[in-house]
Amino acid sequence: MTSWNLTYTGLDPEKEKLRETLCTLGNGYFATRGACAENGADSIHYPGTYLAGGYNRLKTEIAGKIIENEDLVNLPNWLPLSFRMNGGEWFHIESVEILSYEQKLNIRSGILCRVIHFRDQQGRKTVLMNRRVVHMGNPHLAGQETVIRAENWSGEIEFLTALDGKVINGGVPRYQSLSNRHLDPLCEEEINKESILLKVQTNQSELRIAEAARTQIFKNGDFVNPERYCIKEPGYIGQTFSMEMAEGDEIRLEKIVSLYTSRDKGMSECGCQAKIAVVEADSFEEILKSHALAWEHLWHRFEIDYYPADPQKGKRTSRILRLYTFHLLQTTSRHSMDLDVGVPSRGWHGEAYRGHIFWDEIFIFPMLNFRMPEITRSLLMYRYRRLDKARKAAQELGHRGAMYPWQSGSSGREETQKLHLNPKSGRWNPDNSHLQRHVNAALAYNIWQYYQVTEDLEFLSFYGAEMFIEIARFWASKTTFNKEIGRYEILGIMGPDEYHDAYPGANEPGLNNNSYTNIMTVWILNRALEIWNLLPETDRNPLCEKIGFSEEEREHWKNIARKMKIVFHKDGILSQFEGYEQLEEFDWEEYKKKYGNIQRLDRILEAEGDSPNRYKVSKQADVLMLFYLFSAEELRSIFKQLGYAFKYETIPQNINYYLKRTSHGSTLSRVVHSWVLARSNRSGSWELFLEALESDVADIQGGTTPEGIHLGAMAGTVDILQRAYTGIEARGGILYFNPAIPPELGELHMHIRYRSYPMEITITPEKLTIKTFPSPKGYIKIAFRSKTKKIKVDCGEILEFKI
Ligand code: BGC
Repeated sequence: MTSWNLTYTGLDPEKEKLRETLCTLGNGYFATRGACAENGADSIHYPGTYLAGGYNRLKTEIAGKIIENEDLVNLPNWLPLSFRMNGGEWFHIESVEILSYEQKLNIRSGILCRVIHFRDQQGRKTVLMNRRVVHMGNPHLAGQETVIRAENWSGEIEFLTALDGKVINGGVPRYQSLSNRHLDPLCEEEINKESILLKVQTNQSELRIAEAARTQIFKNGDFVNPERYCIKEPGYIGQTFSMEMAEGDEIRLEKIVSLYTSRDKGMSECGCQAKIAVVEADSFEEILKSHALAWEHLWHRFEIDYYPADPQKGKRTSRILRLYTFHLLQTTSRHSMDLDVGVPSRGWHGEAYRGHIFWDEIFIFPMLNFRMPEITRSLLMYRYRRLDKARKAAQELGHRGAMYPWQSGSSGREETQKLHLNPKSGRWNPDNSHLQRHVNAALAYNIWQYYQVTEDLEFLSFYGAEMFIEIARFWASKTTFNKEIGRYEILGIMGPDEYHDAYPGANEPGLNNNSYTNIMTVWILNRALEIWNLLPETDRNPLCEKIGFSEEEREHWKNIARKMKIVFHKDGILSQFEGYEQLEEFDWEEYKKKYGNIQRLDRILEAEGDSPNRYKVSKQADVLMLFYLFSAEELRSIFKQLGYAFKYETIPQNINYYLKRTSHGSTLSRVVHSWVLARSNRSGSWELFLEALESDVADIQGGTTPEGIHLGAMAGTVDILQRAYTGIEARGGILYFNPAIPPELGELHMHIRYRSYPMEITITPEKLTIKTFPSPKGYIKIAFRSKTKKIKVDCGEILEFKI
């Protein structure tokens, strides 16, 4: 097994849905779970195909209330390709004796393979091989090949190839009582003898989806064309055909599929386009080649080669890192750029969180910024297009500026559900997570980071500055001045830690003076003023006329940024929010003994009639986010501006304090903790990094990965290698390097891009090497630790620094 293959041997029904998620194939336009082609959805299998941004809204009555959810729609299943012998039962993997079973995802080329050797109840031994791709070069194309070899039998074999639009959204057991039928049938058509077309439409958003499939048949290598029988039902079309097989014969089917929707550009109508595309498509073998080439090009930009100190242990780490990068690139790619979509926290890999967009972008963008920032730009544009909606949301609450939703879908309205089900208690409880206004801070931070890495002033002038200033304006209007202490406060919100949404016993949700939010607000107000000054005057004036941004308002912001209240505990620890210090300590040992896995303490406590609001427990990093996002120097200057003392020792003290009180109920949590330990406790950081890496491959939350990947954790862990251990930081026109490589890491090698210049970076325990390539102009500024240097990029240069 190499570090480029994810291999499973043997069938494991309990883990099948987890494997399906991890073996999902996609290209940023659509994705299909790695379900087998022979089965529909049941308790073991869940084939799902999702379009990036393919949402639909449905209403349901729950607990006497009508609620509306916007879901990521499960599209028609294009996989069905099954067979049966001599008129018997259709093949079902659970009803045959498996002699050998291997499933392999080739991460380098994006090919999923399954080889099954089985004996059926009649004693027939057969080999079944399936290979599959979702094309990374042509976003509208996918294909699979099934090979059947009769090992010890002869007789008739019948095949079924189909497009199934009768599917529902059934991937998340917790959502079972919610409405789940999103598709209306439109048309089923036989295009020609070997090709079929299915068209459906979502019943609220009126998105039309067309899938066409061409199935070709080869017997012992020769093309054959048996008679086919077509089955048409509303929302379903299939073809069956029969052939004779003799012992040793091999039949190979190629099913090539095209997928278009009414939102695509450069076409007349999606059904018509899908037909043309499938009829004109290359053979499966040719498709494999062009697909693998597209992946090769992507890997050149995204691969992080790492040579671990212990090659044996490192192989698994390396494989997981590649797998996670692979899923990032399947979720968002150059093919998503024209789609007006965001990057979903759970990938387009399943139905959890309904394909919604959260603050998780803050963990995902850094991998894109340094490798394909065009993608980040398009993801920021998704937000820009929803700026008016965010303005309205702020206004409705009596605020100014723009307030982006905690969960975003098609239109940018708040998509967070009103009620959520605790599967442990069976109760539907109010969901207050929309009070996480810090999503707005993440968005501002992301705009700034994108600009720091790319110097894309055009983006800033056209879109970024407007969004940034409107977000800053929202924060300024969210503050209230407390005359008694002469400081500004932010009241009635939630921080990133979702375990706390209210004070114990309070009637209203919301917490006051969350340190993370208050400090982010100060940072945003500072940066907004800096951005204003960065804009050329010719761009400033029209923006000023459009959104109004007076000297008086700027002065007001400066005042808030000097007088924000930050709450500390008696011993100087930054308080997660005002009042956290007075909460009860939690008996971690007792609960671990009682429940084993206590990552989802919120559910456990609610089921006991208690609430995490009473305790000093955190689901995930909250205060520590500050040390994740900012350097110690930056924080020191913010505290100085606020008139609070800041000592460097505060950082490890805070880390220790909160690490002890965090259950890591979010997969994002270990990423942050590993990151913040990178400088002070390298082995502790490495340990948490390895734990964070297990999030999805081992489904450490026990059942969440089968419903979708955790993209923030995936990209965030790879980014620990990219930025935390290398100390790479783009700030003030300088690219900083400050390596702190854990001994287990060995050596790192990667390509990054900075301000459109490609660079090759190699870091060993002794040396940092930076290579630039010939580019049309000038130089860039880099800094190793605190020493700044200009590096030539006109003819390429190699720089070495002793570590
Ligand atoms: C986490 C949030 C995160 C969301 C989506 C939640 O469990 O607490 O921070 O944004 O999942 O990944």
